Amino acid sequence: MNIIVIGATQGLGLELVKIFSKNGHKVAAGTAELQTPASLASIEGILVFPSDVTNEEQVKSGVSKCAEFFGEKADVLINVAGVLLPSDRVNNIQDCDVAVLRKSFEVNAIGAIIVAKSFYPAMKEGGRVFTVTSEGTGLKSCGTWIPCYALSKTAATKVSGVFNASVTDVDFYSVHPGRMNTEMGRQTAQIEATETAESLLRVVNGEIPITRENWYINYKGEPMEL
Ligand SMILES: NC(=O)c1ccc[n+]([C@@H]2O[C@H](COP(=O)([O-])OP(=O)(O)OC[C@H]3O[C@@H](n4cnc5c(N)ncnc54)[C@H](OP(=O)(O)O)[C@@H]3O)[C@@H](O)[C@H]2O)c1
Repeated sequence: MNIIVIGATQGLGLELVKIFSKNGHKVAAGTAELQTPASLASIEGILVFPSDVTNEEQVKSGVSKCAEFFGEKADVLINVAGVLLPSDRVNNIQDCDVAVLRKSFEVNAIGAIIVAKSFYPAMKEGGRVFTVTSEGTGLKSCGTWIPCYALSKTAATKVSGVFNASVTDVDFYSVHPGRMNTEMGRQTAQIEATETAESLLRVVNGEIPITRENWYINYKGEPMEL
């Protein structure tokens, strides 16, 4: 399959690139960097391209690079790009820094839309677009922790549902990846990012069946509560 991973420099994105290319898929890796990050430099046979999800022009130019690399449309896109900014870990909403709120929405929510809308025309009929969001994004799920991140991921989660309501030729999914031991998730980790990547490989390969009616899922392919 032709697979695009956006947000591939580290954490889950990097593990996905590794496991997809090891399993015979053709992989294009989008990163926030202009140069190929060291983490991706040694992986053979992949395309690495700049794709800061807040930069629509750069993302669109990535679409052309992927089309040229694959020589056809893509089967799967997984957008993993996300930020959880330091002050958001300590401030409640009444004390939040609006610059942090804006940045969280820019990357996590608006970035999700920029990626989905830019790559949609480059997806095969029946292709699948996965946006990695989070857990606890239901409207009734209101906690105090990481408010800028939580609100932006709630918006991002709904992006897939709105796309599915709007188009029928590509399926859109929002995915909770589990609490992973990465730069972002270290404090609350329950699993390694490799476990999530292995499971998402099975989802992508069709070993774990999913349907667009249940478009908000966890990394095991199980429906999440909206
Ligand atoms: N870890 C968890 O427990 C957990 C739980 C729930 C949801 N998630 C979500 O899962 C996803 C992966 O998280 P992770 O734990 O692997 O986090 P991570 O290790 O912090 O990795 C985040 C990735 O996003 C990239 N990124 C950040 N801003 C970007 C931008 N503007 N454009 C393109 N890429 C950008 C980063 O690239 P650079 O390194 O180059 O900045 C990095 O590769 C995120 O969306 C996160 O919100 C994680």
